[in-house]
Amino acid sequence: MSEEKLIHKEYDVLVIGAGGTGLRAAIAAAQDKELKIGIISKTLLGKAHTVMAEGGVAGSFGNVNPNDNWKVHFRDTFKGSYWHGNWRLAKILVDEAPERILELERWGAVWDRTPEGKILQRNFGGHAYPRLAHIGDRTGLELIRTLEEHIIHEDNIDLNMETTITKLLVKDNKILGAFGFDRVTGQLIVFKAKTVIMATGGLGKLFTITSNSWEGTGDGYSLAFEAGAELIDMEFIQFHPTGMAYPPNVAGTLVTEGVRGEGAYLKNSEGERFMFNYIPEKFSKDYADTEEEANRWLEGDENARKPPELLTRDVVAAAIRSEVAAGRGSPHGAAWLDIACVRDADYIKKKLPSMYHQMKTLSKLDITKEAFEVAPTAHHAMGGMRYKWDTNETNISGLYAAGEAAGGVHGGNRLGGNALADIIVFGKRAGDAAAIAAKTKSFEDIPQNLIDEAIEVTLAPFKEENTENPYLLHEELRDMMTVEYGFSTEESLTKAKKILEEMKVRASKCGTSGDRAYNPGWDQALSMKHVVQVALLTIESSLMRKESRGGHARGDYLETDTSIQDILYVQKRGPNGEIVVHEEILEPVSEELLKVLAEFKDDGYQYHGKK
Ligand code: FUM
Repeated sequence: MSEEKLIHKEYDVLVIGAGGTGLRAAIAAAQDKELKIGIISKTLLGKAHTVMAEGGVAGSFGNVNPNDNWKVHFRDTFKGSYWHGNWRLAKILVDEAPERILELERWGAVWDRTPEGKILQRNFGGHAYPRLAHIGDRTGLELIRTLEEHIIHEDNIDLNMETTITKLLVKDNKILGAFGFDRVTGQLIVFKAKTVIMATGGLGKLFTITSNSWEGTGDGYSLAFEAGAELIDMEFIQFHPTGMAYPPNVAGTLVTEGVRGEGAYLKNSEGERFMFNYIPEKFSKDYADTEEEANRWLEGDENARKPPELLTRDVVAAAIRSEVAAGRGSPHGAAWLDIACVRDADYIKKKLPSMYHQMKTLSKLDITKEAFEVAPTAHHAMGGMRYKWDTNETNISGLYAAGEAAGGVHGGNRLGGNALADIIVFGKRAGDAAAIAAKTKSFEDIPQNLIDEAIEVTLAPFKEENTENPYLLHEELRDMMTVEYGFSTEESLTKAKKILEEMKVRASKCGTSGDRAYNPGWDQALSMKHVVQVALLTIESSLMRKESRGGHARGDYLETDTSIQDILYVQKRGPNGEIVVHEEILEPVSEELLKVLAEFKDDGYQYHGKK
């Protein structure tokens, strides 16, 4: 038995993650005042990636276009997923998003308004109508602010900030809690819990250019995999088309899709508005193929089709990459984004205040006067932990997942604005379900061997023999993933897999020195194990899917293969830590929803039914 001095905490519901999902889940669970809820925040409260969903949250109020309703939102979401999303989850998303948005309003969230005082909605890629409730370009921030203010009034919620979780404590496929450490004091903590919610966010830090901040190392996927949870759709990673391209120290920082939603367009180095050349045949019924029609749309002509800058993110990102590859990129290997040519300065400052400020301070550019450079940036993981559609519980009893940590809602590609909807809808559902389950359970003793193992894992970076530099290894991995995953082939993926197997060994030897308190190297050394594991899950899954679909682009299988749209690659840990994959077929769409899809029969990209 280890001699380590441990802190012990007990929660009925432990929420790992303090972004929008985690906060919404905690609020839901805390409504039962007999329960004690714990939140683990890897960073300081309020710094989550949620704030990077700037442009809005999707909900079919129909405030701007009365033709909008849940059916159109469902069709757009399911079609946007390349018919690969879980239809049950997509239906829940579109049904419940409007009420969750109104609830935020009751809790103090401020929205931009229509002249009649309704919540204003803006256009975004892949959405048929203006659907995104927003406040300027600070929607994610407003969402987090509102949830935080709510949290501080719930006296049965306990916050553990700057805390890193290093192991989920699972026995006989049942969650017993989690183990971690307080980065400020360096103290080790055992969190005993009846139920645990994984709200751990995404994995952008697998890549060199990303909108994610330092926390996005995919810990949640890896901790869950290690504990025996199933993961799905790990091959689908979204590159948001417009990250800042310059200067290098901020490359990847998000430029909200709201800029294009407000009418901005993309140009190449020859001044050509190139997106007209990249409208996939299957989407051609919805998108304008001439500047004249796109302009009519901007002026409010309801018969005009949308500008192609509002195609789904995968299409726009691929178009920018093609232009750069063809030698028509901007000076920093990007495309030009121009809002100044369609909107006046007052409008831009009112609707896009953060973008105005961000570009002015970071790039010394005035977007009300000039175009600026943008390039794709790793933004969101569509895949993640698999969960039951009605409870958000994973295959591990008492372990729940929601938000970006979870997979299934968005399939092959997520529509912008559907992430904020996802986190408030499924965050609440996970919190409700975990609270109900916690009421029926009692705390269980955590076997000493589990705690000893967790201590061993957590303190490994301090061992003298562990001398691998985690920062350098991370940089190497990110550069490698950027090259080999980007537009991948059997050859590049196989090469990546081999490199990652070697990196796995190196990650286990990552070390740090010095004291335990305030030691960022300790956290980085531990997170490398997760980064490598998640990269392996992504690469393995990408090798399996021999087609291109949404966020998964294969250079050797360029087409979307209808015959495998329903195949899910389910990954799980094997007895020796290896990744074991099996195939499953997605559940056939219900009769009710087939009828809904049939209402869109003139749509250019039809649902093909199941295998
Ligand atoms: O572009 C954006 O504002 C991002 C939104 C999202 O990812 O949903």
